[in-house]
Amino acid sequence: MNILIVGTGYVGTTTGLIFCEHGHKITGLDLDERKIQVLKGGSLHFYEPGLQDLLKKHTQARNIIFTNNTEKAIKENDVIFICVGTPQGADGSADLTFVKNVAKSIGQHINRYKVIVTKSTVPVGTAEIVTSVIKENQKAPIPFDVVSNPEFLREGSALDDALHPDRIVIGTTSETARTIMRELYKDFHCPFVETQPKASEMIKYAANSFLALKISYINELARVCDKLSINVNDISKGIGLDQRIGPQFLKAGMGYGGSCFPKDVNALIHTAKQQGTPLSILEAVVKVNTEQPVYFIEKIKQALGGSLQNKTIAVLGLSFKANTDDTRESPSFILLDRLLEEQAIVKTHDPMVKSGASHQCMTIEETVTGADALVISTDWDDYKHLNWGRIKPLMKQPNIFDGRNMVDKERVKELGFYYIGVSNH
Ligand code: UGA
Repeated sequence: MNILIVGTGYVGTTTGLIFCEHGHKITGLDLDERKIQVLKGGSLHFYEPGLQDLLKKHTQARNIIFTNNTEKAIKENDVIFICVGTPQGADGSADLTFVKNVAKSIGQHINRYKVIVTKSTVPVGTAEIVTSVIKENQKAPIPFDVVSNPEFLREGSALDDALHPDRIVIGTTSETARTIMRELYKDFHCPFVETQPKASEMIKYAANSFLALKISYINELARVCDKLSINVNDISKGIGLDQRIGPQFLKAGMGYGGSCFPKDVNALIHTAKQQGTPLSILEAVVKVNTEQPVYFIEKIKQALGGSLQNKTIAVLGLSFKANTDDTRESPSFILLDRLLEEQAIVKTHDPMVKSGASHQCMTIEETVTGADALVISTDWDDYKHLNWGRIKPLMKQPNIFDGRNMVDKERVKELGFYYIGVSNH
């Protein structure tokens, strides 16, 4: 099948390459000339483990090509995946400008029957909007079908998630489109959920919001545990082993970030409000998440004698989680802003994010040298296996604030560090 992927971000590029692996020919379309040039050269314009090799393999074999020629790309392909961004609008709703622009182009250039698939996270009702926009822009009534097929891959493990999904959700009213989608995914051995487009769109928001809810639940619980000197990691383990609960997304930390959870939870809250049925549970999820970095900073402040003024703080990790260079909505930046507000002297490090900011250091050693405290804000493996014996003499005061509960606390305490985690007693 000839497949067009519109939008070459991490979802679009990963999706395209996964289909290459399954024997399809892919065209990647993006209006951003820079991204296209980088991809044409066989390189990624973002960091995602394992994806670079796959890109090289399939660009060399010409299984995937990249272009910014919208008309040609639409005309030559039979299945079009919309993978463009849906940023958060001013009122919390998802901004559909990019999705609508793609639909408009499809309407203008459609030359034969096509299946249009929305893979971007889009609000309930978007399949209908895409259908109307295409129809409005058609010169002649050429048939097409719209399918909602949300993506569940995570940054940092995109390849594995996309190759081995837990389920594939296909939302369409068209039997023809459903058959084409089944064919497209025939080699994927996981359950298929076939439903109406609106339900499919809601599944994506409900999934992300539920995962965010789990995180906020454990984070708020961590604060109670903290007061009671209980190790919250034991609680995560103890409840996570209950198969009805499951162990994932129960890691207490600095709160969730990224380009998805914060935006998607807000968008679902917005949708619910519009329907006159507010999702108060998700409003609480957002509140807890906003408070979480502040709660942790307060702990740092108290431990350092009530003031952060002129204290040198080494912040380890800028990306919103490990194995990505994405800093969107990263709790690290909330931490940084707050530290600067409190007039601390900040030094930062990240293995992948090179912000160019004056406080960013090249090595961990440089970052911690002369520091009154180091704060682990991203769960990079690099920070888990630090040589603490070498770190300690570099610091002014041996204080570790572990925002990800990932350090071997007994070991660092033995070495003479003062250690505080997120209710990691
Ligand atoms: C999330 C979903 O997990 C994917 O299924 C979905 O496809 C994607 O959004 C999307 O909508 O595109 P992602 O944002 O890449 O994926 O990252 P996650 O691994 O879900 O982590 C999100 C945030 O939650 C990170 O800041 C992470 O550090 C935090 N987190 C995660 C915790 O604080 N505790 C946990 O136990 C798990």
